[in-house]
Amino acid sequence: MKKRTFLSLSASLALGLAMSVSTASISVAQTTLRIFTGGQQRPDVMRKIADDYEKRTPGVKIEVEVGGATSEQQQQYLNTVLASKDSALDVILIDVIRPAQWAAAQWAEPLDAFLGADKDKIMARYLPAYREANIVGGKVIALPYFADAQFLYYRKDLLEKHGVQPPKTWAELQAGAEKVMKAEGNPNLSGFQTAGAPIEGTVCTYLVPMWGAGGALTNAQGQLALNTAEARRPFQLWADMKAANVTPPNLAEIPTDRIRQNFQAGNLLFAMNWGYVWQRTQNDADSQIKDKVGVVPLPGFTADKAATCIGGWQLAISAFSKNKKAAFDFAMYLSSPEVAKAQAIAASHLPVFPEVYTDPDVLKANPWFAQALPVVQTARSRPVSPAYPRVSEVIRTNMNAFLAGAKTADAALADMTRDLSQVIR
Ligand code: GLC
Repeated sequence: MKKRTFLSLSASLALGLAMSVSTASISVAQTTLRIFTGGQQRPDVMRKIADDYEKRTPGVKIEVEVGGATSEQQQQYLNTVLASKDSALDVILIDVIRPAQWAAAQWAEPLDAFLGADKDKIMARYLPAYREANIVGGKVIALPYFADAQFLYYRKDLLEKHGVQPPKTWAELQAGAEKVMKAEGNPNLSGFQTAGAPIEGTVCTYLVPMWGAGGALTNAQGQLALNTAEARRPFQLWADMKAANVTPPNLAEIPTDRIRQNFQAGNLLFAMNWGYVWQRTQNDADSQIKDKVGVVPLPGFTADKAATCIGGWQLAISAFSKNKKAAFDFAMYLSSPEVAKAQAIAASHLPVFPEVYTDPDVLKANPWFAQALPVVQTARSRPVSPAYPRVSEVIRTNMNAFLAGAKTADAALADMTRDLSQVIR
């Protein structure tokens, strides 16, 4: 619950008389803002940034609420909070896939009036993909907090030891993994993992190889078009990796952050994962692989044709907040180059401002950011639609059922086509 103390001058004078000098300072009017973030988005780093903001903004206190570990779990909770018009949350971190849905549901306060005459100038500072993702029907629905894309993480030490180059194609990845696994003879060492559990990340486990094969969910007219060879490629790719024992038998149970944990424990050679993984592997006390990690763009079916999903997190102001102006001011601070730099250094969160990628301190903490900007700039969007939650559910549950061996590729694709045709026409 929020604690807010608004004291009139006379009341605070009266209180000041009644209280000792040390407690009289509570007479400063206080606003408490509550920000909601996911567990994977480094709430500890958010807390430090919020501490700095409190120091420079007398009268404002920030509470950080940490939600579920995955994007769709967080949204499920937020559905309940927002459907009941609950004012408990002021600033909410939302995944890049959500602004269209949030605009349609009117959960986010449009920020245009707060941005005022400087709106275009402010929005022009962001990477175009994030500017565009956050403007829906001409209105600014949220402000970009950090960018994201999927990369290939690999064990530099093991590849060097066995004379394997970082792969540029899926075939090279599979061959390299087979070679290292055989030579190492370590039953705990898994070759490759991507998200396979029925979570948001598994949408990209389908889309990345489909895009990489030159496919798309829709044709030039925007109609669903899954009756293509490219739409089948992801099923074949993951079936081949499973048959070669490069992916583990339980891939269908693995969510995003488990991949990070397996990698960090020293039990994984190649991981398809998002930007946050790097700093965890370098700084977590339990990491077994500090200084043993390389990061490159994801492979493709051919070296010149790879794809990746665009990700990232935005700052929405709840339409039901009782402190919208104060919430906006805090969101503007969070969405600044200064905070982008701090986040990049502490959490390897990719910046939404192009110039922060070349900052020497940022590059020192994340040497691979030197190659990351073009990856973010060419990363592709999951379908932009107010019905995205349903689109996501159909893709991830079918991909998961295939990986679990519960559906054949034909059945998964047929079910995807049937159910997606209800929402993408
Ligand atoms: C990362 C991305 C986000 C994506 C999620 C899926 O957090 O930034 O966009 O949806 O992973 O696991």
